[in-house]
This record gives sequence, structure tokens and C-alpha cells, in this order.
Amino acid sequence: MHPKTITVPVFNLNSGMVLGDDFFDANGACIVSKGVVLNESIVSRLKERFPYKLACIQDVHAQNVVTAGSSKIKRIVKTEVCFRQLANGIKSIIRDVQSSGKINIREVEGMSVQLLENFKDYAAVLDSIVKERSLDEYIQRHCVNVSVLSIMLGRWLGLSDSELMMLAQSALLHDIGKVKIDERILNKPGYLTSLEFTAIKRHSILGYELVKDLKHISPLVSSGILMHHEKIDGSGYPLGLRGAEISPFAKIIAVADVFDAITSKRPYKCKESPFHALSVLENELCGKLDPLCLTTFVQRISMFYIGEYVRLSNGNLAKIVKINHSDISRPLVMQGSEFIDLHKASKLSIVEIASLADFTKHHFCCLIYM
Ligand SMILES: [Fe+2]
Repeated sequence: MHPKTITVPVFNLNSGMVLGDDFFDANGACIVSKGVVLNESIVSRLKERFPYKLACIQDVHAQNVVTAGSSKIKRIVKTEVCFRQLANGIKSIIRDVQSSGKINIREVEGMSVQLLENFKDYAAVLDSIVKERSLDEYIQRHCVNVSVLSIMLGRWLGLSDSELMMLAQSALLHDIGKVKIDERILNKPGYLTSLEFTAIKRHSILGYELVKDLKHISPLVSSGILMHHEKIDGSGYPLGLRGAEISPFAKIIAVADVFDAITSKRPYKCKESPFHALSVLENELCGKLDPLCLTTFVQRISMFYIGEYVRLSNGNLAKIVKINHSDISRPLVMQGSEFIDLHKASKLSIVEIASLADFTKHHFCCLIYM
């Protein structure tokens, strides 16, 4: 029986591993043969010459790769648990609105504290946000995701802790008005009629009406809910406000909302990569969203993906090496031992983010379900 093999990046190789297949250079010359036990000298030469190439190794010798991946996996699992707790909190708020038409603002305040305290590992947050999730949990996960992204952006913009608390409340409730809209319209696959679109657009006013008379709620929180679909050129809704007329919280929430909506699967659309979302923000929404919020978000978020593996539209894996500041959604990547500047290679694009789990899928499953 042949031993099982797994594919890992060369930078994860260690001495003692056994090659599960011949290792070739870019010209097709065999550099190390199948079955060779790697020693320190071979490993360091491979890392030096082919740091981003993939190597096939026998499974039994991959324990150190699992260890390398497991700390990242543990961080992601921890963050995911926090996301789920808050999504359950939103579920209970939605139930209250459905049954009594009221929002328990104390519960929202408690969730805001959790948001500020528990989501400081931004790399794990981004990983969790772009994860596949069921359509049923869309609204609650969307509310939590937009809140976490809004707080990240708020911190980068220099907001104080008390402002961040209010921003979190506004973002958690930004789409609460959707609870009052017919689910058949909200989840309709395909195009909406103009009447249906008009009905959906009412959610910002409906949400505002739910919160405006609550005691202890700041106008900043309620205006963030009311105005999160306004555009600085006046093309948004419900009021068609422009620039400075739009609440500062609404401007932040609007950017986070677009990023999460694009990277989510909905009945009428597929999930897209974060780089596609950054491209839409950078190219299609420039002039519509607040420029400081937009550029801060796009530049900061893109930096988290340096060193990540992505799948390109040609089907190959590549590693992000450098962000192009003039074209953030099309970075410099390394495919095998070849550098590709996606800014110039217009026919190629990033399709999805590939995590370390893609290289150690078998081990990832063991860790998650243990
Ligand atoms: Fe909305």
C-alpha cells in the first residue's frame, strides 16, 4: 500500500519529512527524488530557491506542518465562537422585534462591549467573515460582520472607545428594519420588480422608527441606521443626502456593509472573493462612499492578505507578495517560482482566498472535529 501524501508549501518543509513525489524545478528538472528523507541541507536549499513552490510529502511526516497550522486554526475557531455567540444575540433581538415590536437596548449595549473586547485578532476576523455560511443565518451574521468591520474601520479612523461603543450599536442594528419586510422579497432569487425593490429600501426608515424613541440612545446611533444606504453624490436612499449631510457612522457602516454583502452568498448571487469586494469599493464606489472611509478600509484590509495563498482564475495557487497601492485588488503574486503582477496580467484575477487548511485539509478536519 502506498503511504498517504499531502501537499505543503516549501516554506513549511522540515528535516525528517519524506518526499511523496519527485520535486521538479521550473524547467522540469528533478531536484529531489520521491522517497528521499529531507535533511537540513536539502530543506534550506529548497527554501532558498523555491520558497513558494509546493512539495508533496508523506503524511506520517507532516506533524510539524499541523502544529504550524493549528495555532492559526485555534485562533480562527476562537473568533468563530465569538461570532456565533453574537449572532445568537442578534437572533434574540430579532425575536423580540417580531413578538413585541421592541428592541432591548441593554442587550445591544452588552453585545457592543463584547464586540469591542473580543474581536482584536483582525486576521482571524477576516478569515471568519469570508467563510461560507448558511442562508438562514444571513441577517444575524451580516449584522455581526458589519459591526466588527465597522469597529475595525472606526479604530483606524481614530474614534474613541465611547464613540466605538455607539458605532457598534448602530452597526448591530443597521438592518434591523428588514425584520419588518416580507422574507419572500428579501430572499427572492433573481431580479426584483421595482415595487419589491422599493419595499426593501424601506428597511432603513423602518429600522430608524424602531430605535428613534428608545431612551439612552444617541442620535448618532439612530442616524447611522437611517442613513447607511445614502451616497455622498446624493444617489442613495431614503433621503438622497449628500456629503456632510450624511452621519459619520453611516459612512463607516456603508463601507463595511458593501464588503460583507459582496463576500456573502445570497439566494440571488454567489459569494465573491475579498479582492473582488475591494475592487468594487475601489473602482465602482469611488465618488459614492466617503473617500477617507473607503481608502482607509481598502488599504488596511488589503495588507492583511500579504503572505496569504489565493486561487487564481487559471486554477493555480499563488502567494500574495506585495500590494499594488495604485490597484489594490490586483497585487503582485508568486505562482510556483514565478512572480506575476496582476496589475499588468489583466487576464488573470484572484478567485478566492486559499488558507493553510487547503494544504493540510486532512489535519484541519481532525482538529476542528476533535
Ligand atoms: Fe441595509
